[in-house]
This record gives sequence, C-alpha cells and structure tokens, in this order.
Amino acid sequence: MVIRRPPDIPSSEITPEGVYVNRRKFIAAAAIGAAGAALAPRALRAFEDDVDQEVPARFRNMRSELDERLNSYRDVTTYNNFYEFGTDKDDPAKNSGDFNPRPWTVTVGGHCNRPGEYALEDILRPHTMEDRVYRLRCVEAWSMVIPWYGFPLADLIRRLEPTSNANFVMFRTVVRPQEMPGQRARVLDWPYIEGLRMDEAMHPLTLMATGVYGMDLPNQNGAPLRLIVPWKYGFKGIKSIDHIDFVEEMPDNTWKVSNSREYGFYANVNPNVDHPRWSQARERRLPSLFRNHETLMFNGYGEQVAHLYSGMDLTRWY
Ligand code: MTE
Repeated sequence: MVIRRPPDIPSSEITPEGVYVNRRKFIAAAAIGAAGAALAPRALRAFEDDVDQEVPARFRNMRSELDERLNSYRDVTTYNNFYEFGTDKDDPAKNSGDFNPRPWTVTVGGHCNRPGEYALEDILRPHTMEDRVYRLRCVEAWSMVIPWYGFPLADLIRRLEPTSNANFVMFRTVVRPQEMPGQRARVLDWPYIEGLRMDEAMHPLTLMATGVYGMDLPNQNGAPLRLIVPWKYGFKGIKSIDHIDFVEEMPDNTWKVSNSREYGFYANVNPNVDHPRWSQARERRLPSLFRNHETLMFNGYGEQVAHLYSGMDLTRWY
C-alpha cells in the first residue's frame, strides 16, 4: 500500500534483503556474459534455483493449480505488509518480536445466535486444518504463491449461526500499541478493519489461516488468525483478528476509509481496472525484479467466483 510516505519512494520499490542479495548475484551473472540480454535467461534461472532451495522439503514439489512454484519461506516471512509494525516491507519481521499471540480471544458479535468471547482454541478445535496453495496479489502489483494452512471461514460462520439480518461480516485486528509499534502513529485509523459480503465469506475458497508452510503463522504474517481471500487484493487479508461481527451494512474497511479514490470495498483483482496511479495489467512475481506475469482476472479464480459479481459494474465497484 502506498500512503503518507515520501512520494519519490513508492513502497512497491522497496526490496527485501533476500531479493537484494540475489539481485547482486543476478547482476554479477549478467555482467559475466558480455552478451547481456542473451545470457539473462540463464542468469535468471540460476537466481530462481537459489531461491527454490529455501522451500522446506515437504513442500518442494507442491505447486499451485496453475503449476506455479511456491515462494520461499524467506520471501513469505520477510516481505510483508502489516502497518501495525511499520510501513516498510521488512518492518513487520523486524518489529513484531514483542507481539504475543497467545493466549488469544476472539469476540463475536452482531446478528448471530452465538455471540461471545471465544478462546482461540475453541475457535479452532472443531476444524480440520489443510494446506492451500494460493496466489497472493497485492494492490502494489507484486505477487507471491503461498501455501497457507487453515480451514474454510464458512465452517466457522455456520457454527456462529448468523441471522437473516447479517449481510456482511466485519473483522478487526487487535489494538496493542505497546506490542505493535506502528500503532503508536496514526498512519491508519486503528483498528484495521476489513469485511466481506456474506456470500463471499461463505465461499469455499475463503480461508481462515492459522499457518503458513504447515507451521503456525509468524507474527509478521498475522498470528494467530488471519483471513485469506485469494481472488481479492492482499489488503482484504486482515491479520491478527480479534473481533468478528455480523452486520447489516457494508463495513467501512480501513483502506477505503483512508483513500476511497484508490481502494474500494470489493478489491477484486482486476487487470482491466487500473489503480489511479499505476496499471494492474501485470505483476511482479517475487523474487523477480520485473513485472514478469500477466495479472489474471479474479487472480485466476474466476471460474469459481465470477458468478458472485454478475451484473455488477466492476469499474464502479472496485
Ligand atoms: N492486516 C493488518 N491488520 N494490517 C495491515 O497492514 N496489510 C494487508 C494484509 N493484512 C495489513 C493486513 C496487505 S496490504 C497485504 S498485501 C497482506 O496483509 C500481506 O500479507 P503477508 O504479509 O502475509 O503477505
């Protein structure tokens, strides 16, 4: 996300250390061959192989349904957006050491038959966890392929028994300025808020994630519980959730409140609707330095989700 930062350094340009180190290797490899452009593909392959070794063994042969390979554990856990810990991509990994995700309670409220305070263990206990490889496409036009670990949000919602007045689900991130140094500044209105329409929330692709790479979520990725909606821009994936409310009206989500010209409620990945300051047609699949991938409508999940938006003007409802 890009907001309230020096205009000459868009955050999408900030490079994680791993990529930076590898970029030096890449530049060195490219320089060896004077033919430059002709050798670049080989150099790039070497560079990508390097990264592949950081994928834990159990996951090494895992691919997305489009046969994409996974991003490394290092990419996934060191290149993050989590403004509660700072606005730079490496801030969440650096500044989240004091955050304490256990014990944890989730407060459920609004239009449902089972409101209350739930210990995390009670939220999780009845559910069967599974690995799900999803593309994460950030609005800043970078992307990763990540093996999340979690369970369908729909299963939790059914247990909470929303009533017929529940049209949307609203999520809130915990507020703990002592443990979350980014919350001591008003970069955003805290708490971070996100929401889904009920049919989006009940879609089988929508995941409550508790882990990544089969392990508990590190703090920087949203421990202990976060949302993943793979056909939407990454900012819908709210982290460290401590409130779930069933509401009648469309919630005011944080980025829309912060800048409604640039961010909407729906946030469906859409190569045909540009962000006001850049194109969304292509994306930079980390660790690449280039926009080397075409962005797919609904992030490639169109067959499963396009029907949710039939009849809607997606240039208006972005
Ligand atoms: N959740 C909270 N609470 N605060 C944030 O700043 N950033 C969002 C989303 N969830 C954010 C958040 C954005 S912009 C993205 S792209 C994803 O988290 C990044 O998730 P990742 O760091 O696990 O890849």
